[in-house]
Amino acid sequence: MSEAAGPLRVPRGLAGVSVADTKISKSASDGSLVYRGYPIADLAANASFEETAYLVVNGRLPTRGELRAFTNGLDGRSHVDRRVFGIMRDLGKQAHPIDVIRTAVSALGSLDREKTVAGEEASIQAKMSVLAANSRRVPGGQRPRLPKEGLGFADDLLQMLTKREASGFERWVFERVLIFYMEHDMNASSFTVRVVASTLADPYAAASAGLASLKGPLHGGANEAAMEMLLEVKDPARVVEFMDKTFREGRKLMGFGHRVYKAFDPRARLCKEYLKQMVERRREGAWLYELCDAVEREMWERKKIPPNLDYYAAPIFYLLGIEVPLYTPIFAASRVFGWMAHYNEQVEENKLIRPDSEYVGATGLGYTRIGERRS
Ligand code: ACO
Repeated sequence: MSEAAGPLRVPRGLAGVSVADTKISKSASDGSLVYRGYPIADLAANASFEETAYLVVNGRLPTRGELRAFTNGLDGRSHVDRRVFGIMRDLGKQAHPIDVIRTAVSALGSLDREKTVAGEEASIQAKMSVLAANSRRVPGGQRPRLPKEGLGFADDLLQMLTKREASGFERWVFERVLIFYMEHDMNASSFTVRVVASTLADPYAAASAGLASLKGPLHGGANEAAMEMLLEVKDPARVVEFMDKTFREGRKLMGFGHRVYKAFDPRARLCKEYLKQMVERRREGAWLYELCDAVEREMWERKKIPPNLDYYAAPIFYLLGIEVPLYTPIFAASRVFGWMAHYNEQVEENKLIRPDSEYVGATGLGYTRIGERRS
């Protein structure tokens, strides 16, 4: 491109712009999603969280020995320094859980004594679920709930999040939701991680930036917003009235829409099916499934916009007895595996991510002394 032609303009929000070659995952508008070449439905049906995490991070499914070493590596790094819990406690009970985790990850960056970048990444991955599960308890003055020896990643996170006993099927479902949350090509937080990685900042800096990006309701914060919306509507009979009001006020319906998936989100479809089975097996919670379905139908009728993963992850978490403000932290506990895969991929073939912009502000102004300025 010649200087005279000026910088290349891209669509707002980089919509439809490819910014990197990646081998990690790919979603497409036809509702497909692959992690390292494997369709998401195949992984959901067969893989454990740890196997999927190994796949996302290392590029292929592990052997038994590799899986054991990977799991041991995580288990061995899950101990969170009490100074980090102290910092979390000092933030106080009003602190937003994602702010708490982000602050804790920053603190880890100063306190961890890992010797390699791979060790730093594993440390963040191992500790993120402990930080997530305690992101309300500890600032609220309660003692941290800690991982238990010998439990898998998903069971361990669930037992730290809630005291409610989940059935085998429910634990299986929770693990599937974590698998879905793990990775999603160039989503906002993974792109944020790549921008930070491209400056060659460390994984702690990249992960805390990822958390900042995840917090917003257009991204990770949507699962909490979707649940609050469902609890506000409560009754399928109120859906029409609620939607009229929402759209009259120019607001969006949280948990609907996606930059890539325009017909359906494959993860949401699977989660809807899991939710249905959950309420059938428990013989309770049918109201929630019916409500979700009613909102989905009305939204499709009006706007042809499908639900996304957040919409159906939220009621699953709710029925598992997890507090709503912990939904986005759960997302973080899983997505951190994808973030670190992106961190590595970016650093391996690095080029500083530093776009251009078009200046549309004032020109030709001259400095005036402070006393001569008008407001
Ligand atoms: N409710 C109502 N209208 C919507 C919604 C929604 N949830 N999503 C999109 N639309 C409408 C927009 O108003 C816009 O309409 P217009 O063309 O008449 O102005 C049109 O659909 C296109 O929407 P955009 O926001 O421009 O689409 P984009 O690709 O930029 O946004 C996004 C995708 C941000 C996810 C959007 O659908 C949204 O805000 N959804 C709600 C938040 C949410 O659920 N986020 C979770 C994402 S998935 C995840 O993080 C796992």
